[in-house]
Amino acid sequence: MQDTEKVKQMLLSRIAESETPREVLKAPELKQLYGSIKDLPPEQRGDFGKKVNELKVAVEKAVDDKEAELENSSVEPIDTTAPWDVNGKPLELLPADNGSRHPLTKEIETIADIFTRMGFGVIESRQIDDDYHMFESLNFPDNHPARDGYDTFRTEENFIAPAHTSTMQNRILKANKSNLDENGYIGVVAIGRCFRNEDLDATHEHTFHQFEGVFVSKKATLAEMLGTLRSFFEVYYSQKLKIKTQPSYFPFVEPGLEFTIEKPAALGGKSSSGEGEWLEMLGCGMIHPNVLKDAGIDPTQYRGFAWGGGIERLIMLKYGIEDIRHFESGKLAFLREFA
Ligand code: PHE
Repeated sequence: MQDTEKVKQMLLSRIAESETPREVLKAPELKQLYGSIKDLPPEQRGDFGKKVNELKVAVEKAVDDKEAELENSSVEPIDTTAPWDVNGKPLELLPADNGSRHPLTKEIETIADIFTRMGFGVIESRQIDDDYHMFESLNFPDNHPARDGYDTFRTEENFIAPAHTSTMQNRILKANKSNLDENGYIGVVAIGRCFRNEDLDATHEHTFHQFEGVFVSKKATLAEMLGTLRSFFEVYYSQKLKIKTQPSYFPFVEPGLEFTIEKPAALGGKSSSGEGEWLEMLGCGMIHPNVLKDAGIDPTQYRGFAWGGGIERLIMLKYGIEDIRHFESGKLAFLREFA
């Protein structure tokens, strides 16, 4: 009588190693076992037949299992969340040595670095906001015509894509109130994207960036503000600059000013003596008492100044870029200039 257990182990190990496990069911050893039943004395056939049958069931199950395993391993699972086809050819990425950082990213780092060295904290502004931060907390009365000047994009739920970084003023003041007791001042610059629904041309883009400064102390003055801004611009453009201010109106500052610099000769300005071209770089002024009050800061105790200006404009002057729309265009020819 054949040893069914031995045959079973042999067939199972053959199945485990086979790429075509069903073939094993045709193995001569199996046929031999079946064939040998009839040659046994009748009293042994029952027992032996049962064993052969158990063997057959075990071997068939092993074949089924192995086939399922082979099928699973030959099909890559589809990852529907992957940004490319995982079953396709391996991804070929753009060579890293042809990539570069966007000029905005680089210049924003430079700006943040200059203000950090001057002692300001630097934060990022928000890209979705509400009426309170866009207007109310900034002393725009309801239905004030100045609200229209900001050409804001709104969602159906009345959220606002911020049209300036001044939306951060109230947050900066509230979040840093304890600094007034601890250090005697609040000094934060918020940098981020702004959006305006306006007609596009070489100097107007629907998406742009601003840098907003907020400074509060017991005796902040306009002179300090002008000194701070002059220092910033002179470091940014690496040269001495002539500055000038003229009155302007923003509901959240009083007085409000436009800060202008004379276009330096090195950056395409007039080289001979005499009045050159004055460029408006930003809006600024002493923070309105209502803005301080709204953030829980007593305007009879503290004073502050704030400014907000466009970053693209700053960069355009530095590098002689003629059209603001290049920044968001994704044009490689433009980006390579800064690689
Ligand atoms: N938020 C103003 C603008 O975008 C600029 C500004 C900021 C003016 C802070 C005064 C003080 O036009």
